[in-house]
Amino acid sequence: MSDPKKLFIRTYGCQMNVYDSERMAEALGADGYEQTDSPDDADMILLNTCHIREKAAEKVYSELGRYKGLKADKPDLKIGVAGCVAQAEGEEIMRRQPMVDLVVGPQTYHRLPSMMEQVNQGEKALDTDFPEEDKFEHLPKRPLPQRNPTAFLTVQEGCDKFCAFCVVPYTRGVEVSRPVERILREANELVERGVREITLLGQNVNGYHGEGPDGDWSLAKLIWALNDVDGLERIRFTTSHPNDMDDALIEAHGECEKLMPYLHLPVQSGSDFILKRMNRSHTADSYLRLIERIRAARPDILISGDFIVGFPEESDADFQATMDLIREVKYGQAFSFKYSTRPGTPAAERAQVEDAVASQRLYQLQALITEQQRAVQDAMVGQEVGVLFEKPGRLDGQMVGKSDHLHAVYVQAPDVQKGDLRRVRITESGPNSLGGQLID
Ligand code: SAH
Ligand code: SF4
Ligand code: F3S
Repeated sequence: MSDPKKLFIRTYGCQMNVYDSERMAEALGADGYEQTDSPDDADMILLNTCHIREKAAEKVYSELGRYKGLKADKPDLKIGVAGCVAQAEGEEIMRRQPMVDLVVGPQTYHRLPSMMEQVNQGEKALDTDFPEEDKFEHLPKRPLPQRNPTAFLTVQEGCDKFCAFCVVPYTRGVEVSRPVERILREANELVERGVREITLLGQNVNGYHGEGPDGDWSLAKLIWALNDVDGLERIRFTTSHPNDMDDALIEAHGECEKLMPYLHLPVQSGSDFILKRMNRSHTADSYLRLIERIRAARPDILISGDFIVGFPEESDADFQATMDLIREVKYGQAFSFKYSTRPGTPAAERAQVEDAVASQRLYQLQALITEQQRAVQDAMVGQEVGVLFEKPGRLDGQMVGKSDHLHAVYVQAPDVQKGDLRRVRITESGPNSLGGQLID
């Protein structure tokens, strides 16, 4: 038998891309490809790309440039581009980088094996359709090697919200929820392979409304069903939209034992004028009241968010309104970005904020967030938390895992195994992680 061919995948962008990369590796695995960590010994290089900001999209071309030499030395090397840049730019990618053999969008990667047949015959393959069929069902059944204790599971894809800055509705298409039965089957399969924590994914995951055995199910209902899966210890979900946070989901945060006390709830801005121009359909006040209700249900919940500064027409007063909102919420974590103009989106046509002004605002906002993040982390010292251990740390006998609130925790625990969930007392707070001691 000939040696297996080697596949190198590089993943950019959000967690949904991480999940998709795993599925693409499986689809190509059925075709005889085995994954490698190095592009140098690969027979196929696949970039799973992100189009969310200009910088993210441009990275793809610079990365492709780096592979020119490899392709010259090894003419049989296949190069593919998948994900949201593939969807948005399609053939343009092959025009700019003729060495690219294959371009596949996020909704058609179940067709990879037949595309590879074309590529192996020396042809180019391109598929950026939004097909009717369910890509997840067409993928080969997962092989069953053991897995790391944490896994992503995509339950919903696409977005109908059309925020004025965002490419996702164009690259991922309309909102689609996967049926309940398939999600539960996949969750059980993951648990059989050693997974103890599942993060449910969707661009608007809390807008989930999948076909269940007795009509449409909400995300809350799905979470309650997963709560009954033996061997599964923790449930998380991301990313949520403030408008889709219904009462049942808020209640689940208070009552569902396996649902972790962490919620990523992007607000983008604290100015009602900007929120309106962003087409966000919530106000700063409705967001703050929502956070209050969530905290009433689960007082220790850690709130995380996303912010855009320098959105077209953002004044100093608008920016200060964002800073005020942040002061009120007290975030445990947040991701913040300078507005990036995306061709084809409504905001691209509007008066842009000067780059130096946007940079200055981003700097101030990030300083405030860092301070809050640190305060939330420091307040964990002395508390008892659950930690799901994932891997050894750098020191001898040390293990690292994630707390219920998603903080990285380092513990001296030579007898603890990967996948163990243990109670830990937090004893120190460092710049980006916590230290603790096993309780039992
Ligand atoms: N569906 C999620 C996340 C979408 S993308 C949501 O609705 O929140 C992740 C984050 O990227 C967004 O929350 C936003 O903060 C940021 N983002 C999206 N488009 C952007 C753009 N054009 N410029 C800068 N940041 C952007
Ligand atoms: Fe983009 Fe808005 Fe949809 Fe989130 S809700 S994916 S920011 S359009
Ligand atoms: Fe990027 Fe596409 Fe995710 S644009 S953020 S990879 S949905």
